[in-house]
Amino acid sequence: MSFKKIVALCVFISFLFSCKSEEYIPETPQIIPAPAELTINKGYFVLNNDVGITYEDPFKISGEFLKNFIENGSTIELKDTNDIQFIMDDTIKHQEGYTLDIQPYQIIIKAKTDRGAFYAVQTLRQVLPTEFENHTISEEKISIQCMTITDAPQFQYRGMHLDVGRHMFSVDFIKKYIDALAMLKMNTFHWHLTEDQGWRIEIKTYPKLQEIAAFREETLIGHYSDQPHQFDGKRYGGFYTQEQVKAIVAYAESRHVTVIPEIELPGHAQAAIAAYPNLGCTGEQVEVATKWGVFEHIYCSKDETFEFLENVLDEVVALFPSEYIHIGGDEAPKTKWKTCNQCQSRIKTEGLKDEHELQNYFITRVETYLNSKGKQIIGWDEILEGGLAPNATVMSWRGTKGAIEAAKQKHHVVMTPTSHCYFDYYQSTNPNEPTAIGGFLPLEKVYSFNPIPEELNKDEAQYILGAQGNIWTEYIPTETQVEYMAFPRMLAMSEVVWSKNETKNYTDFTKRVEHFNTRLDALDINYANHLYEISGALISDDDTSAYALSTTIDDRTIRYTLDGSAPNITSEIYKDPIPVNRSQTIKAAVFDSENQLGSVFSETINYHKAVGKTITINKTPHRSYSGSGPEGLINGISGSDSRYGDKEWLGFWGEDLEIIIDLGEETYIDAIETRFHNGNGQWIYAPKGMIIILDDKEFEYNYSNSTDLILNVEYKLVSKTRYIKFIIPNYGTIPDGKQGAGNKAWTFIDEIIIN
Ligand code: ACM
Ligand code: ZN
Repeated sequence: MSFKKIVALCVFISFLFSCKSEEYIPETPQIIPAPAELTINKGYFVLNNDVGITYEDPFKISGEFLKNFIENGSTIELKDTNDIQFIMDDTIKHQEGYTLDIQPYQIIIKAKTDRGAFYAVQTLRQVLPTEFENHTISEEKISIQCMTITDAPQFQYRGMHLDVGRHMFSVDFIKKYIDALAMLKMNTFHWHLTEDQGWRIEIKTYPKLQEIAAFREETLIGHYSDQPHQFDGKRYGGFYTQEQVKAIVAYAESRHVTVIPEIELPGHAQAAIAAYPNLGCTGEQVEVATKWGVFEHIYCSKDETFEFLENVLDEVVALFPSEYIHIGGDEAPKTKWKTCNQCQSRIKTEGLKDEHELQNYFITRVETYLNSKGKQIIGWDEILEGGLAPNATVMSWRGTKGAIEAAKQKHHVVMTPTSHCYFDYYQSTNPNEPTAIGGFLPLEKVYSFNPIPEELNKDEAQYILGAQGNIWTEYIPTETQVEYMAFPRMLAMSEVVWSKNETKNYTDFTKRVEHFNTRLDALDINYANHLYEISGALISDDDTSAYALSTTIDDRTIRYTLDGSAPNITSEIYKDPIPVNRSQTIKAAVFDSENQLGSVFSETINYHKAVGKTITINKTPHRSYSGSGPEGLINGISGSDSRYGDKEWLGFWGEDLEIIIDLGEETYIDAIETRFHNGNGQWIYAPKGMIIILDDKEFEYNYSNSTDLILNVEYKLVSKTRYIKFIIPNYGTIPDGKQGAGNKAWTFIDEIIIN
């Protein structure tokens, strides 16, 4: 071919190519967690049988994963050519960072490690059609939009936890859970293996852990707060054999996920003590726990217990290659230690001040042992009690105080505060949600989490390794329900730990979640979908109030009714806040052009005498439970019964409250009502009484120690007053024998209704 002809051919080809790329409307890929930098380029890469993949040994895991993903997900068979190639690039700063360059004729993945390349592959996976996930793709030729992505994680610890003590799940399910973590670029699976209600890991030295500790006689039915307690009468349990554990650890390794086992001590040990009563202080025979909560039978600090724990840990260390072993440390009541001769003599001979220092002795002794085996410990933030073991990493769950203290002491920290990381809490106010432990943690709140507490300076912030979502399974008996609680909150957590806090955007995220749901469908993951749910807020100014509606996901049509009927496709379309000047019920739902998408939202506004008036509180609500602010207590809307964290409840931690309502002018009143939450399992205790002061009268009330989940108080006080002042002392430090003993109690208060 002459030179001229070649030039002409090239011009013709590039003309064809440019025509094609103009026809093609580039779609922005919907990746979770959002990558740091993404540029869409012209053109597309065609994935078909003509394409090949090459990778060298250092990229074995990521290369194989991608090859299998493409070949198992479609009919495409990849060749050995280097159309898709992996390149080692030491100039990439981050160990887990990567670049992914999709060009018209090549896909190039660059990373410094296989881990980085693995995350490039997970990104590429999300650029491919979701049909690859379950091999339902019919085309043999897939066009992939050209783009360049440069990406790296914000945090080195990106985790999910799973409690298999309260309920146990199959090996296949654990693998599916690990798969999901890896897809979301998470790298740590915290496997909570021992509990009061069941010991779940085979320890060959101690066969009774398998025979006795792994099984409970029956299980509590319903919620712990439902009285009287009822049981199902069915034996429940099981354990993972060491062979199964090895298989799970190997499976996780092949997805760059580290498994951190948790062996709880000195508390949450009742199942082990049931198997070997001598491990406790009293030697008495106890049963494997059949209900939830915190139990007083904890490990005794005698040498015999340490011998047991060291033997157990020897077997654990041999099974788990992870740098860390989680040793628990949380919720260990000291009642038994206080009356135990051996524990008291340990306190004396070791020169310890009290039982809190004995807890420190316990943890430090186990830490020293594990350090000698080349392992580091992680413990829940109670391990700060009585001093921190020298090399311990703290998992901060009771808010962020433990994290701040530990980081200031130059100890590493993993963030899992209940307020943002407990995926066993309710995720919706919809009354049809499955029973959960309590609390309220919607997707948006998870997404808003910043693992770095604002109290830390830059140097201290370095000690925050990352964060983790926790799934405690008291109320989660099945695998599909684990998925329901985990998704989509795990998606939000993945972005919290991977993406930059400054660039997070919830509206954009929800659109990506909507898209991601088709991937979860293909993966047969039973996610919760609250994207089309509605939330409302009463907006008041000087003398008018209106009710505003919004959806989780933007730009959707809301239709509503005010007559109590369910909205339908012909109901009024919501445009502006709905004026409210009397008690009424608003019902609303999201619709597309033909169908209702989510469930019906219903709010009853109780238009009482304080609505829209002025309220002041002497303390600021805790920042995790500040709801819609003090005004939320007089907005005519009550919180839900089980979800103390929804925006109508205000939470205060250990504080005495003074609340003043100014009705604006002298007003006849004849009753005052309010509610206190009493979810003792979450350390929420209704106050023991309160004082109500009107302009010229004062009333003092005492409540008996109520065990109801909600304490309703209602007083008839016919009077004329402008101001109403409430003095509400905190319940105080939680006494021994009650849930949360030794901690400050929370006060949660709902709407104050003035009639
Ligand atoms: C915990 O939730 N007890 C760590
Ligand atoms: Zn003892």
